[in-house]
Amino acid sequence: MTQKISPVLALSPVQSVRMDGFTFFIKRDDLLNTHFSGNKARKFAYYLNNEFPAIKKIMCYGSVQANSLYSLAALAKLKNWQLDFYVQSIPQWLKAQPNGNYCAALALGANIIELEKNDLGKDNLDSFIRLKAQHLPSDTLFIPEGGRSKQAKQGVAVLAQEIKDFCQQQALLDPLIMLPSGTGTSAVFLQSLLPYKVLTCACVGNADYLSQQFSELDDNTSMWPIILPTRKRYQFGKLYPEFYQIWQQLKAQTGIEFDLLYDPLGWLTLLDYLKKNRLEKSVIYIHQGGLLGNQSMLPRYRRKYPS
Ligand SMILES: Cc1ncc(COP(=O)(O)O)c(C=O)c1O
Repeated sequence: MTQKISPVLALSPVQSVRMDGFTFFIKRDDLLNTHFSGNKARKFAYYLNNEFPAIKKIMCYGSVQANSLYSLAALAKLKNWQLDFYVQSIPQWLKAQPNGNYCAALALGANIIELEKNDLGKDNLDSFIRLKAQHLPSDTLFIPEGGRSKQAKQGVAVLAQEIKDFCQQQALLDPLIMLPSGTGTSAVFLQSLLPYKVLTCACVGNADYLSQQFSELDDNTSMWPIILPTRKRYQFGKLYPEFYQIWQQLKAQTGIEFDLLYDPLGWLTLLDYLKKNRLEKSVIYIHQGGLLGNQSMLPRYRRKYPS
């Protein structure tokens, strides 16, 4: 069955919800487009909006269940390009029963390349790809993992404008904007484009690692988002009972499904911060999509914590 892919991003609505006694505005970027949801839509808008006549192929890398794998597969299909997506390994069970972003990307024709230990030698995936990216033919576009590049700013600027318009309409003078970070690309660009305080937390690595990521995209430290402290060091992709619990609570109290990798830590950290500082400010939480990934995360949680 052929899938119709549209490059058009909707104006994502803002929904007012109650959670744990607080009122929040949720910017529903998960509703931007079926194939380009959340921050992938914003980060890849540059590629959606521009023509690249000389390009025939995209090269990228990351996790086999990355949201970026799915969105890049859709981008490649839309532009009639090939996607070569490198991954460290594909678990046998996933090959046998593909699901989530991996399955959807395969259906869109992605070429997912598993690197054997021998290919990598002493290098890790990151440096292997960096080296490869230096010697690409001119018809191949390299996109860094998770869309972490300056090109992402174009799409994030549209999000920033939509937030400013909303705040003006609602007469919100000094709102807080919250979004959990991986590479920090969305948060650091958003802060550089907004007159409001942007809050984030480090979901991959610790706060120092996130600051390092910020510095690669914007060396003006005064324009960086505030990194909120997390309760403890969480390992990205690992299952935690408090994550599953807040995810379920969010679903029950707001009616909205959030992602299971970033949002649980984002919400736990935000609520702790608001309670600790007794803040009563308006908070806009950016829903950054990623729901296809729940197809693989949710069965893992259900198996580990059957209710
Ligand atoms: C659902 C979701 N939330 C948050 C993030 C983190 O975004 P960034 O890498 O821009 O910090 C990602 C990764 O792109 C994501 O897929």
